[in-house]
Amino acid sequence: MSFFENTRKPVGFSGKIMVAMMNFGHSAMAAWGLHFLHSAPDAMVLDCGCGGGANIKTLLKLCPKGKVQGIDYSAVSVEKARKVNAGAIAAGQCTVQQASVAELPFEADQFDVVTAFETVYFWPELAQNFREVYRVLKPGGTFFICNEANGETAKDDKWTQIINGMTIYTDADLKVYLEQAGFGRVQSHKNKKGWLCVTAQK
Ligand SMILES: C[S@@+](CC[C@H](N)C(=O)[O-])C[C@H]1O[C@@H](n2cnc3c(N)ncnc32)[C@H](O)[C@@H]1O
Repeated sequence: MSFFENTRKPVGFSGKIMVAMMNFGHSAMAAWGLHFLHSAPDAMVLDCGCGGGANIKTLLKLCPKGKVQGIDYSAVSVEKARKVNAGAIAAGQCTVQQASVAELPFEADQFDVVTAFETVYFWPELAQNFREVYRVLKPGGTFFICNEANGETAKDDKWTQIINGMTIYTDADLKVYLEQAGFGRVQSHKNKKGWLCVTAQK
């Protein structure tokens, strides 16, 4: 297994290194994308594929009167995300659970916002997984996707060749899946670095 396979599912010692690197390496992209998210200070937020939990920490600052929950199917990610957000967990403002996006451990209509940073590339069944996100969002809630790769540049192939099970989607691809899942008002934003942010409403 190559080191970069840990982006799909961090495991073992190399997975621990990868989640620490991702917490640092994805921060600029996350800050850029979050300009397009308009969340209330008391929002209930779910971060899917939360990795090492740096984005949960940022979301807690954006929603200081709300609650931010995270899920990830990797035990290594969950452990790191819990460590990074230990204070908020102790204060009852945050939880992190080991779970897959295929079956979110939440009742329907719970969240104002569901975020997915650098993770939809690896989701096994995008149509079903987006329906699952739709299920847990409140009516009017926002699904926010932020990716460093937008499926339109030559460097994208480099990643899909070295990481098994990775698919890079264009904004048009994502719009089709989102609308199939029931979402509306799909909007996308791109920058010169090839980053992509897509938001959609339930
Ligand atoms: C490239 S990392 C991104 C982590 C974090 N969101 C960030 O931006 O730093 C992808 C994460 O998504 C998680 N992931 C991938 N597929 C998943 C799935 N089907 N269900 C839950 N988590 C998943 C991986 O375990 C990994 O922690």
